[in-house]
Amino acid sequence: MTSMPGMVALFNGSGGIASLLVGWAALFGADPSVGAVTPFTAVTVFLSVMIGGVTFSGSIIAWAKLAEVMPSKAIVFAAQRVINGALLGGLVVCGVFFALDPAPDTHLFYAILGLALLLGVMAVIPIGGADMPVVISLLNSYSGLAACAAGFAINNNILIVSGSLVGAAGIILTNIMCKAMNRSLANVLFSGFGAVKTATKVEGEVKSIVAEDAYLILEAASSVTFVPGYGMAVAQAQHVVRELGGILEANGCEVSFAIHPVAGRMPGHMNVLLAEANVPYDQLLESDDINPRMPNVDVAVVIGANDVVNPAARDDEASPIYGMPIVNVDHARTVFVLKRSMASGFAGVDNPLFFGTNTRMLFGDAKTSISALIAEFK
Ligand code: TAP
Repeated sequence: MTSMPGMVALFNGSGGIASLLVGWAALFGADPSVGAVTPFTAVTVFLSVMIGGVTFSGSIIAWAKLAEVMPSKAIVFAAQRVINGALLGGLVVCGVFFALDPAPDTHLFYAILGLALLLGVMAVIPIGGADMPVVISLLNSYSGLAACAAGFAINNNILIVSGSLVGAAGIILTNIMCKAMNRSLANVLFSGFGAVKTATKVEGEVKSIVAEDAYLILEAASSVTFVPGYGMAVAQAQHVVRELGGILEANGCEVSFAIHPVAGRMPGHMNVLLAEANVPYDQLLESDDINPRMPNVDVAVVIGANDVVNPAARDDEASPIYGMPIVNVDHARTVFVLKRSMASGFAGVDNPLFFGTNTRMLFGDAKTSISALIAEFK
């Protein structure tokens, strides 16, 4: 589950290279008796090679960042946009000449191939941290467009239709994710997330709690909201969370689950895990719905979530995640944070929530901690 975005990146890359090869092969397949490749086919071949090449190399970089084969931070340097603009301009110029005289094994064709692959690398290296899911979704859209272009090149309707569907679905998902992070697509692509900004240093006292004491507070609570995050997926704690929710309900407590749109590592990650554990769907609330009610929640139980409950995103303009909507767990009367250490989350920024006066850290693996709470109830 947690490696899914990386695998999707590889799938997108495979789609890109396949379209590139199909487009390239269309040049060899031209029937000499009919004459040379038509300008229309040449343009579609150019598009499938260009978009396919960008998708392929861009997806490999995205995978390498997610798999931590290379640093996941944004790599930015002076004149980066000028170089990217020049690469794109060079591609378009080569494309025009190629359309006028299309051939599969000329210097011009290899220049297009090389420029496209280079542009993919250059376009993805300045993107990092929490913006990676957005770029993977965008590359997914590109892989669809490349397939669509390849469909035109070989006159294959199924490829055209399915490529268009993937292209449109990918761009819709990209848009949804940008909205969830309160960012524009241009800001995601060009701002170099996490490369420059440094959040205000968080200091204060951390208060930890043990399961025995946490049980006493939960036992007396009349409303509890669970906020799952990536750590719940790692710990595979969804089943015990469901069990604890049931015990609390039987104890007369109102139970809800706050679902942040980018919690975990893929869209709908938390919904999938909680559905697997048969958590009733009507207990799932989106951040916007739960936030106004948060001051009336007795205990917010944060299960392996970090960035999506980081108040710095709301309050600290210097924070790299400033502007990302969060679940306002710090507004609840008491907050339990279940995680193993004080380590930061995906975005690599400190979380002032852990130092809040109403926060208690329940350190340990989320599944072990929840199981300990269940044992106390039993
Ligand atoms: P994160 O901010 O990544 O934090 C997860 C926390 O889980 C970590 O701080 C970690 O702390 C804890 N953890 C890990 N294993 C655990 C375990 N076995 N038991 C208990 N805790 C454990 O997660 P989030 O709040 O869900 O936020 C998601 C982040 O990922 C956002 O920045 C988002 O933009 C990004 N992202 C999202 C997606 C999508 S589409 N959902 C895709 C890729 C990236 P310890 O190490 O101290 O335990």
